[in-house]
Amino acid sequence: MDYKIGIVGLGVMGRSLALNLERNGFPVGGYDLEATQAKAFLTGYTRGRKMAAFDSPAALMSALERPRRVLLMVPAGAPVDNAIASLKPHLLPGDILMDGGNSFFMDTERRNKDLETEGFHFLGIGFSGGEQGALRGPSIMPGGQRQAWEAVAPLLRAIAAKAEGGEPCVDYMGPRGAGHYVKMVHNGIEYADMQLIAEVYDLLGRGLGLSANKLHSIFKEWNTGELKSYLIEIAADIFAKTDAETGTPLVDLILDEAQQKGTGKWASQNALDVGAPIPTLNAAVESRILSSMKSQRVSAGKVIHGPQMEFRGDRSQLITAARDALYAAKVVSYAQGFSLLQLASQEYNYNLNPGTIAKIWRAGCIIRADLLNGILDAYRHDPALVNLLMDESFRAAVGSRQASWRLVVQTAVGLGVPVPALGASLAYFDSFRSERLPANLTQAQRDYFGAHTYRRIDREGTFHTEWK
Ligand code: 6PG
Repeated sequence: MDYKIGIVGLGVMGRSLALNLERNGFPVGGYDLEATQAKAFLTGYTRGRKMAAFDSPAALMSALERPRRVLLMVPAGAPVDNAIASLKPHLLPGDILMDGGNSFFMDTERRNKDLETEGFHFLGIGFSGGEQGALRGPSIMPGGQRQAWEAVAPLLRAIAAKAEGGEPCVDYMGPRGAGHYVKMVHNGIEYADMQLIAEVYDLLGRGLGLSANKLHSIFKEWNTGELKSYLIEIAADIFAKTDAETGTPLVDLILDEAQQKGTGKWASQNALDVGAPIPTLNAAVESRILSSMKSQRVSAGKVIHGPQMEFRGDRSQLITAARDALYAAKVVSYAQGFSLLQLASQEYNYNLNPGTIAKIWRAGCIIRADLLNGILDAYRHDPALVNLLMDESFRAAVGSRQASWRLVVQTAVGLGVPVPALGASLAYFDSFRSERLPANLTQAQRDYFGAHTYRRIDREGTFHTEWK
């Protein structure tokens, strides 16, 4: 049989994508460096399905339809280079290698160029949606040679999640590392969404003393309105889960140290390089880092005291305000993420289309949310939109929630509950809408201590002053 696609790396993600592809009519050949993994695939999944496991890269490659399409589902970093090296001797001109892991986009740039020089195609593909997404329908962000995309598009369209109207959540992102770049920003936004939700949980849980049960009902209700999203849905589920042994809400028993694999951090690092302010995404990365300093926090908590954490205001008003604040802060976080995409697109000549990106994030991925429909509409209405906050309907939506949002941030500050991401979104919003910022003083100081010069608002030219 000529297998339509090969998958190298038969762990959870590789296996789930293989099952999805086969279910959609594409026979899959698999290979894994670990013989035990290949055997588990062979014995556990191939029976009755048009799937097979091969015991060498050579055997896999000779069983594939031409041009060969091979998807690497191995951990990011050296394993991708190793997998490419093991397949390279068996490649024929026009063959397509694809990397479906969370690779750093600059690595994808390098691999794409190297392989192209030798006559091969290389797609860097961001897959989002975890194991269930891979199995039932992920959101897929491919980048690389356009003709390679066209050769794999029917397969990817078939396995992708379907958004409203049955539209597949996959499209061509752009050349070289564009797909992995978009996935990196997806993850930065994912971190920010999660942090904003965590801060609201903290304010309502620790600040107001609401139980996990009550939080479950609040989040469940929120998930029927404008906040409707996968991350709100799973937060509601999480609050409802009790630990079988102790009867305590499981969330209360989980150690408060958040881990990270690096993609969110890369988004922050790269945003500094391309000159994009993304303070909400940065706050999320830093919050994870601060959370991991548990022993320092435990010691500090014993000797550094904040205000009395007792809320005396209207509780139901604050709960409603928290919903509004979450929505407004989320919109502003997406405004930052999409601006980053636009700046990076210029920097790296990716020709990214923000409307297309919003379109494929509507289903399948971790950040899927009703909000993405609004973002898609905004870019359909004005494809050259510079910032989401300049879209009339988002401007109105955020504007009408401004008072609630400020109340939430002020209340959290008063109680001593940290809200770095809610606050960062608000500060971005206030900075972005400020015609005049205090950078004039910064410029004056730079000129004072280093003769760095400044420009004036009333005349053309560059100036230096002897300040003393
Ligand atoms: C997705 C996720 C996925 C993974 C992240 C988690 O879109 O499906 O983003 O790629 O869950 O890598 O990242 P951290 O371990 O850094 O939280």
